[in-house]
Amino acid sequence: LTVNPLRSIILAAAGSDAVRKMITTAPGTRAMVDRFVAGESVDDAINAVAALAETGRYATLDYLGEDTHDAAQAERIVQAYLTVLDRLHDAGLAAFAEVSVKLSALGQRVSQRLAVDNAFRICAAAEQCGTTVTVDMEDHTTTDDTLDAVAELRKPWPDVGAVLQSYLLRTEDDVAALAVPGSRVRLVKGAYAEPHNVAFSHSHDVDLAFVRCANALFAGGAYAMFGTHDPRLIELVRDRAAAHGVPRDGYEFQLLYGVRPDEQVRLSDAGQNVRVYVPYGEQWYGYLMRRLAERPANTTFFLRSVVTR
Ligand code: FDA
Repeated sequence: LTVNPLRSIILAAAGSDAVRKMITTAPGTRAMVDRFVAGESVDDAINAVAALAETGRYATLDYLGEDTHDAAQAERIVQAYLTVLDRLHDAGLAAFAEVSVKLSALGQRVSQRLAVDNAFRICAAAEQCGTTVTVDMEDHTTTDDTLDAVAELRKPWPDVGAVLQSYLLRTEDDVAALAVPGSRVRLVKGAYAEPHNVAFSHSHDVDLAFVRCANALFAGGAYAMFGTHDPRLIELVRDRAAAHGVPRDGYEFQLLYGVRPDEQVRLSDAGQNVRVYVPYGEQWYGYLMRRLAERPANTTFFLRSVVTR
């Protein structure tokens, strides 16, 4: 099976202003946003974390934004993170939630320095609040800069999480460098439309690479965080953890808000650490389009509601 062929088409279309306008005003959109996004306000985010904590699930909060083109917009995003970290602390929820940041939201397109300086401020606030930060991985043109940023952030804060994507041909080398004791690494398949010279084109190869990376993370003693909904990979990871003698609290599964909620609870009830990635905020467009591009079933349903309005 090739990697979902619709993905490139949907992600390419998502960049067009006309498509953006059509999607953001379509009647079917609200229900999709409500399913995948916890809400627009910081209260919505805190309530979502509290509800997850009640059922034993952890969270990582993502204030939606990417494509930041000026320092003022990046500053608004930093302020949103500082606010939500304060609120987590005040609500006594810091043990249940960390934050995920995208360097593109923090101003990477303006300059790498601006994005890294902004990430430093968020990491400092997270430490004060008693929690951690994970730096999301975006498209392959940013991989080197993002890994450089993580290395810089890890000097004062060794617990800053990195994300690696098994669809990239380079990732096994990156895993080898990051698979060391205490290193928090989220392993995902990868969500962007990537050219064939940098990424596997068959989903089977992406899955095989995922398992090889999982083995390397366990063997190296990293704290691995598996961001996947794939039932086969989840079972394989549990199996590999047992083979490496890694206890259930020595790694975690991460799933997206609104995706396979029953499975989230089932895994958590089975004693696995489960963390839910909780996006909130107004800038949901890019996030929603990547979710649609992942699931042709969602897309067909959704496009029908857009086209037949
Ligand atoms: P995939 O989409 O290949 O589906 C495999 C199988 O899983 C399906 O056949 C089905 O059985 C099941 N499944 C998947 N989705 C389902 C659904 N909606 N309902 C029911 N069953 C479903 N990407 C990135 O590039 N950078 C990043 O920083 C992150 N961060 C991140 C954090 C977290 C917590 C997660 C879960 C994911 C990411 N991703 C990401 C996204 C990731 O790269 C990937 O695109 C998605 O997780 C989809 O891939 P899956 O591994 O879930 O399986």
